[in-house]
Amino acid sequence: TFEEMEARVKEIKEKLGSKVFIPGHHYQKDEVIQFADVTGDSLQLAQVSAKNSLAEFIVFCGVHFMAETADILTGDEQKVILPDMRAGCSMADMANIKQTERGWQEMQLTFGDTIIPLTYVNSTAAIKGFVGMNGGATVTSSNAKKMLKWALSQKERILFLPDQHLGRNTAYDLGIPLEEMAVWDPILERFEYEGDLRQVRVILWKGHCSVHENFTVRNIEDIRTQDPEVNIIVHPECSREVVALADYAGSTKFIIETIGNAGPGTKWAVGTEMNLVNRLTKRHSDKTVFSLNPQMCPCLTMNRIDLPHLLWTMETIEQGKMMNQIKVDSEIARWAGVALERMLERV
Ligand code: 13P
Ligand code: SF4
Repeated sequence: TFEEMEARVKEIKEKLGSKVFIPGHHYQKDEVIQFADVTGDSLQLAQVSAKNSLAEFIVFCGVHFMAETADILTGDEQKVILPDMRAGCSMADMANIKQTERGWQEMQLTFGDTIIPLTYVNSTAAIKGFVGMNGGATVTSSNAKKMLKWALSQKERILFLPDQHLGRNTAYDLGIPLEEMAVWDPILERFEYEGDLRQVRVILWKGHCSVHENFTVRNIEDIRTQDPEVNIIVHPECSREVVALADYAGSTKFIIETIGNAGPGTKWAVGTEMNLVNRLTKRHSDKTVFSLNPQMCPCLTMNRIDLPHLLWTMETIEQGKMMNQIKVDSEIARWAGVALERMLERV
């Protein structure tokens, strides 16, 4: 039963003690998050993995790119494990290394040596490696503004991978007009842009998050008509139109803190993953917290890490038969590490 599985995980965790460390992303299910030694947004989890040198096994409750990042930032003596190998990220899959190299070549022809690449941490280690090798850095939703500013102090133009929305929203916040942003379509291998490309300062990779694209202008309009007192808070992976109409936009950590600090009786429609919204609804019973999209929006890959997979992982460690280790190729890891360090030293 479910209770038996919970009891077993608890028992093994106690037995293994500090040998095992469990980081959990805010989008993870409650049944998993209850066992997390630390919860956080992508940036916090990257930092905590970098600092935690004691545990031999890091059981990463999150998605594949996060486990890769943890592997890159930790020492060889630490093994990073992903409880279900199918826990990928559709956004990270929207930029593969071949497409990126081809696109970059085309951009060099168009713009010469005036571009610096930046990648959202929601990308494969190979993309982070490409970015590191070409002078760029990673960003997360909580430091994107700072990192774009830095990049623009290095070169005239930025290539932002793989989330066009975070890139557009952040550049817009920095005062860059939409006319100075072009989209690069990696499938058709061409720019989506009308006008003279020479005025472009930000090139947005045509990728997006399949969870956050479900929050729409219509959702916001419906809520505003029903109850104008509701505060609307969204993640910057939502489209520009949605972010523009929302009252607040920011990382998962920002969303948690903003609602946490709000007064009792306040109402919040939240545009982010369902597990986090449900947790906030339960935690703040003195406030009204609900999903901006009434259909709710789960991240199917985050949800692949569930109690049975966590239990299975803990049992394999207990029996000395560890499975599902995430090990990034050393050459890729070296350059991806450079891209991550360029970010970590600035935040
Ligand atoms: P943050 O937790 O950094 O805001 O990232 C959100 C996300 O989509 C992770 O996949
Ligand atoms: Fe990827 Fe979106 Fe899921 Fe985050 S919420 S893991 S960006 S698909």
